[in-house]
Amino acid sequence: MHNEELWQRYMGEISKVSNLNELQTIKVKFLGKKGEVTLALKNLKDLPPELRPEAGQKINTLKRLIEEDLEKREQELLQRALDEKLSKEAIDVTLPGYSLKLGKLHPLTQVQHRIVEIFTSMGFSVATGPEIEKDYYNFEALNLPKDHPARDMQDSFYITEEVLLRTHTSPVQVRVMEKYAPNLPIKIISPGKVYRRDDDATHSPMFAQCEGLAVDRNIRFSDLKGVLLTFIKELFGPKTKMRLRPSYFPFTEPSAEVDISCVICGGLGCKVCKGSGWLEILGAGMVHPRVLEMAGYDSSMVTGFAFGMGLERIAMLLYGIDDLRLFYDNDIRFLQMF
Ligand code: DAH
Repeated sequence: MHNEELWQRYMGEISKVSNLNELQTIKVKFLGKKGEVTLALKNLKDLPPELRPEAGQKINTLKRLIEEDLEKREQELLQRALDEKLSKEAIDVTLPGYSLKLGKLHPLTQVQHRIVEIFTSMGFSVATGPEIEKDYYNFEALNLPKDHPARDMQDSFYITEEVLLRTHTSPVQVRVMEKYAPNLPIKIISPGKVYRRDDDATHSPMFAQCEGLAVDRNIRFSDLKGVLLTFIKELFGPKTKMRLRPSYFPFTEPSAEVDISCVICGGLGCKVCKGSGWLEILGAGMVHPRVLEMAGYDSSMVTGFAFGMGLERIAMLLYGIDDLRLFYDNDIRFLQMF
């Protein structure tokens, strides 16, 4: 009877338990050192000896029942805690993911890559040179001696009398020839930054150019024409026409200004081509014998062609951009359009 009462009290208390802490308290209360079941066992000694075995058995049975019950409830609580944890931590794979914002190459870099791709497909390699350049390479070795009036075509940033920020990529021609002469052939392009004292809607103090140079025996003006026409059709489309106009550069003879049929109106005449149907995109010519000689080639045996173009102008025509300064503003809305 006493045991039955104990069991009922245990059940009454254990049924209110909702977590492992509470369960531990009940366990101590009934089975701990001073717990009720433990005390009942201790109290057996107060019974007359003949009643002890049966009473002892009953309490031990009760003790085992409580132990089993506690064990079962503990497992249930552990499982419930685990389920709760798992359901809270679960990853919902149907939720939309976080998309990473990818950057892009600057439109000028994209144009540069395209140009490099076209010329390398024709067997040209890429060469580079310093942006801080010697007067000798930037001017003198290109047949532009000191005080030559053609130096006025390129307003320069001088660092000392003999050192300046290069005004064009042409000095790379000289550096490459100097290095390889008298070996043949040379077929290089050289994209890179150049600097001039200019600043308006179509000029920036820093801009990008790409130079080209081919030197070998029997290089003719028709080779220059063929290479440039292939380039132009690749870059601006197969319908694009090319026109060469006689011009002057100190480092080429003869020299030409190279036009393409207007990419906007197709040659009919519009605002962009100022009604002419043509757009100027680069300068070119046969390498001047004096330039070849200064670099270490025998100009009676060797000829070459060269060309140079501004990348901003080409990018503006390709993408229909009307202000060169947009390339340098770093406005993300503009840059994301390409
Ligand atoms: N260096 C010239 C400039 O910046 C462009 C140029 C014209 C380069 C004719 C050449 C060339 O190699 O043959 O205006």
